[in-house]
Amino acid sequence: MKKLITICLALMTAVPTLAQTPVYLDESKPIEQRIDDAISRMTLDEKIAVIHAQSKFSSPGVKRLGFPDLWTDDGPHGVRPDVLWDEWVQAGQTNDSCVAFPALTCLAATWNPAMARLYGESLGEEALYRNKSVMLGPGVNIYRTPLGGRNFEYMGEDPWLASRMVVPYVKGLQSKGVAACVKHYALNNDEEYRHQVNVIISDRALHEIYLPAFKAAVQEAEAWSIMGAYNLYKDQHNCHNNIMLNKILKQDWGFDGVVISDWGGCHDTDEAVKNGLDLEFGTWTDGLMMGKTNAYDSYYLADAYKQGILSGKYSTKELDEKVRRLLRLYYRTTMKRNKPFGFLCSDSHYEAALKIAQEGIVLLKNETSPGLPKGEGLLPLTEEKLELLRKSSPLGGDKRGVRILVVGENAIKMMTVGGGSSSLKVQREILPLDGINVQCSMFNVQCDYARGYVGDTIQSYNGVTVGRSLYETRSQAELTAEAVEKAREADVVIFIGGLNKSNHQDCEGHDRLSYDLPYAQNEVIEAILKVNPRLVYVNISGNGAALPWIDKVPAVVQAWFIGSEAGEAIASVLFGDVNPSGKLPFTWYASLDQCGAHALNAYPGTWREGHKIIDEEYKEGLFVGYRWIDRLKMKKSKGDKVKSEPLFAFGHGLSYTTFQYGKVTADKSSLTADEQITFTVPVTNTGSRAGAETVQLYIRDVESSVERPFKELKAFNKVFLQPGETQQVSLTIDKSALSFYDDKAAAWTAEPGDFEALIGPSSGQIVTRYSFHLQ
Ligand code: BGC
Repeated sequence: MKKLITICLALMTAVPTLAQTPVYLDESKPIEQRIDDAISRMTLDEKIAVIHAQSKFSSPGVKRLGFPDLWTDDGPHGVRPDVLWDEWVQAGQTNDSCVAFPALTCLAATWNPAMARLYGESLGEEALYRNKSVMLGPGVNIYRTPLGGRNFEYMGEDPWLASRMVVPYVKGLQSKGVAACVKHYALNNDEEYRHQVNVIISDRALHEIYLPAFKAAVQEAEAWSIMGAYNLYKDQHNCHNNIMLNKILKQDWGFDGVVISDWGGCHDTDEAVKNGLDLEFGTWTDGLMMGKTNAYDSYYLADAYKQGILSGKYSTKELDEKVRRLLRLYYRTTMKRNKPFGFLCSDSHYEAALKIAQEGIVLLKNETSPGLPKGEGLLPLTEEKLELLRKSSPLGGDKRGVRILVVGENAIKMMTVGGGSSSLKVQREILPLDGINVQCSMFNVQCDYARGYVGDTIQSYNGVTVGRSLYETRSQAELTAEAVEKAREADVVIFIGGLNKSNHQDCEGHDRLSYDLPYAQNEVIEAILKVNPRLVYVNISGNGAALPWIDKVPAVVQAWFIGSEAGEAIASVLFGDVNPSGKLPFTWYASLDQCGAHALNAYPGTWREGHKIIDEEYKEGLFVGYRWIDRLKMKKSKGDKVKSEPLFAFGHGLSYTTFQYGKVTADKSSLTADEQITFTVPVTNTGSRAGAETVQLYIRDVESSVERPFKELKAFNKVFLQPGETQQVSLTIDKSALSFYDDKAAAWTAEPGDFEALIGPSSGQIVTRYSFHLQ
């Protein structure tokens, strides 16, 4: 009996012990406590393993403890197809064709944070289906020069616009349990020599122009990871840069996530250990390119680090800190149990891609054409307007149907492939010509096509074969002649050109070699204009370009790289199903010398002796984009050769309707440092179509102890208005909108004094102002 009692007692005490969940797996416990527990159980090898890659896009979890591997993937416009374990070659899976969302320049051009939220959520669902826990994006490097090869991946030239758009993107993505990896932190503003560029910049320009979008992603959206950039700052690579990572990101901004190196951006064990890098990816140390066995052990944060710890060179302080951040990321992603389900290529994702594309397309110019009533823009090509064009055609168009001619390689070119790491494998991509054909068939319009020029004829890109062959044997003279002959017969010509995703265009790794449109595009456009002035130019790109014939072309549309639904989106705007409402997220310079970096010869920089480092001094400082244009205007003197009017101002974008702004009022004329001020402006849709207008508020510091840009965007509000409808549009700011970064105090300061609120439909068109005072 005594024995039985003893056994029962033993069982009673044993059962709870057996069933007890370890703290690190106990979801009722706070995450930091679970992390402490996990760290205390991990071996040195396990800790070293989680802070560097094990394949091109994954790092190991901790199998023994039940932490799964961490899978990352590009980003940012769709989920990249899988590549082989240790090679860049596409794996050839059959379940990884995705929806391509519009490139981020287009998202920024919507000026609609709700679109960014939708984007993040939709992408997150695609990533979940593909079991990717970290999306390598979004990119928020500032558009400093229109030659920048990766501008299409970013959100334009303005820190406020980029900040407002990145926050909902990150929140939307992370709401699905997928981490954003905001990139490329920081100062990776052009691609040429990106591994060797050492950026020299004032503290003010750094904090006022280049860091705000990163800061907003960290502090407002609470991004779970960030990617260090390839280039150097103060002679140290940004993937292990003490000031950038330890000081600004982690100490000042309180970032609690993981710093991931850009692929191959890590160069030194000591700096990687001490300067804030947490997870190393893509390094090509000895033999890695040759596929050396266990090459990942050669990573800077692998064996070399472990030996350093074993020999006493390093304590485990930094290691535990890195592991802590990794575990935090796991609990937020791979270890998060109540994640939503992911799905790929759903109708809702296509709808999101289409909606964002349609809202981001920018109508840059829309003037009248022969045959149309005075003041009537050439676009949209409605049935009635096409009929007018046909009737007034010099070829006596009465006995035939309407004829549209589409010209240009970009009408038939897939744009979701190429461009570097953002290249995708899509389930479908509607080409512009196909989208236009669908519209034409609805109106019984005859649609013909002429190639016009030959640009990039690549047929396949890392295993993805393009939808339509671009093979062409005819000479340029023959192509031009064909376009001209067909244009002569057409009622309207739609030229679809611009840049593409091949090297030295909108593509990672290099910048553009010139601001001109590539290939024979200008020549063909000029030739067409001689026989038919009713030309709509649709530009596909992530960058501006010189448009020397602009005065002769009545209608210009900026259509970006807009992903899977490109053709449908473009056609819906051209034919008027959608009223365009996009606004430029960058200044469209008439010529390169209107851009500060180029005017001051501050690009691409100066090589140091030995040709290992190129110093790129951002001599234009704060004066990026419209800030430089305003300065040009202020400082203009007689005889200046550089024109101060850009081709299209930052924030510019037309509509098929018209908006009228009333006079701005405010809820006060003087505010204290703790108060907000709200400006209200009545905006009326004075045309006959429903449409959307983005009301922009720029702040001018009337008098300042430091040099400030003439005006800076500090709020915007996109409103949708029915014909005749008026809305009171409100824009609220606080003292942060009045502040500058005081480099001496290393802090933001708002100086008491007079300010002005400048409101209008673009940076180039201020229509109403309000003077106020900060006490
Ligand atoms: C790019 C990153 C990208 C990474 C992985 C790098 O070359 O700079 O943006 O996420 O490759 O593909």
